[in-house]
Amino acid sequence: MRMRRKRNLEPRMEACSDLLLARGKPCKNLKEAAEGYRALLGYEKVFGNGNPVELEIGCGNGGFIIEKAKREPNTNFLAVELCTNVILTAMERTKAAGLGNIRFLNIPAEILECYLPQESIGVIYLNFSTPLPEKSREKQRLTSMRFLEIYKKLLKEGGRIEQKTDSGEFFDYSLNRFEEAGFTLTDVTRDLHHSPYAEDNIVTEYEAAFLAKGLFIYRAVALKGEHRDS
Ligand SMILES: C[S@@+](CC[C@H](N)C(=O)[O-])C[C@H]1O[C@@H](n2cnc3c(N)ncnc32)[C@H](O)[C@@H]1O
Repeated sequence: MRMRRKRNLEPRMEACSDLLLARGKPCKNLKEAAEGYRALLGYEKVFGNGNPVELEIGCGNGGFIIEKAKREPNTNFLAVELCTNVILTAMERTKAAGLGNIRFLNIPAEILECYLPQESIGVIYLNFSTPLPEKSREKQRLTSMRFLEIYKKLLKEGGRIEQKTDSGEFFDYSLNRFEEAGFTLTDVTRDLHHSPYAEDNIVTEYEAAFLAKGLFIYRAVALKGEHRDS
């Protein structure tokens, strides 16, 4: 079902423009990306400091990234979301919370390389990415090989991806792709909420809904490159 466009969407987006670093129509963006378009961000200029930068892809209404930014004021956060209706809520909530360490990109993750410099990101968070079980949509899964190749370029040496999902099938698919792409798996659990990782966990909006249904939450960390001790 298509989501109804938010009332006064454009004036409200304009009111959040200080938080929004990029916005565009996916088809136009994808064409430009294919042509090698680059508008690389200078993080020091954007955030006014040289703090490390982390990235959430598919931030939804922003619950995770806002709580993360509150807990870690000395880290800068970028949040990417395809859907304008949804990212607006995340930006309005960020403004209301008075947080200076989050910025947003209303773009498809496919074109992240147009905006983010190579080896500039410490952690990528993939929280409850849509599993897209249909074979025909594999390319769109946010842990498919084409995305992992992009993430590898964006992550710093020693960087990592943190993934959570409610789908066992998508989880298994992702673990296989991480290994295939040369990541090292660590902190893997098929029941996050009864694991040692539960303590620091930030429950996202989708996670709360899945927990309410009694579903297991799967979680893994994928380290860039080979790590003998993991
Ligand atoms: C299932 S929701 C999860 C939202 C949030 N992370 C949570 O846990 O509550 C997945 C989100 O990812 C976004 N998304 C899906 N594919 C994307 C892509 N290629 N680029 C950016 N965002 C994407 C969707 O618009 C949607 O808001």
